[in-house]
Amino acid sequence: MSGTRLVTSVVDITRLKYDAIVNAANESLLGGGGVDGAIHRAAGPELLEFCRHLGGCPTGAARITPAFQLPSQHIIHTVGPVWQGGVAHEADLLTSCYNVSLTLARENEIKSIAFPAISCGVYGYPHAEAAVVAVETVRASVARSDEIELVHFACFSEPMLELYAALLE
Ligand code: APR
Repeated sequence: MSGTRLVTSVVDITRLKYDAIVNAANESLLGGGGVDGAIHRAAGPELLEFCRHLGGCPTGAARITPAFQLPSQHIIHTVGPVWQGGVAHEADLLTSCYNVSLTLARENEIKSIAFPAISCGVYGYPHAEAAVVAVETVRASVARSDEIELVHFACFSEPMLELYAALLE
């Protein structure tokens, strides 16, 4: 039985103090709007400087960086799929984002991690479907190996919280 706690709340992910927070980035890794913009603003300019040397990140993959001025220690940047109507393997790519982020976390001995609702903003992924992918993928991953002690789904609206809370019940 997995010992990993899965929790959810409405919270600004940049204010959480965990081993890692996950960023919903784009393939350039050079910042943007949404949670990416918030994380870069809060982490400070060193984050962008560090990311310039990473050479980007493909959709469905992830990269880890220090968190600089954020309360957390690390940022795991993952690039979610742009929603194209469900005909471009979006669910597989979103599943990959959660799986590779958790794998990177384990490789870096991260015990507590927060995810935003990847692809649910600018990238237009339908929220209900994305929440199912998020919770089911994380649940299956931590059932296989429970080195990670806490996963926090950081929502940014009450409607999103209701979706995650219903799935975590
Ligand atoms: N804390 C937690 N969640 C947040 C925050 C925050 N500070 N700011 C936004 N969110 C939520 C959004 O409400 C949404 O539910 O994060 C989710 C993801 O939305 P986006 O940030 O728009 O990310 P995404 O849809 O994956 O699009 C990625 O947007 O910001 C650009 O550079 C980014 O090009 C990339 C694209």
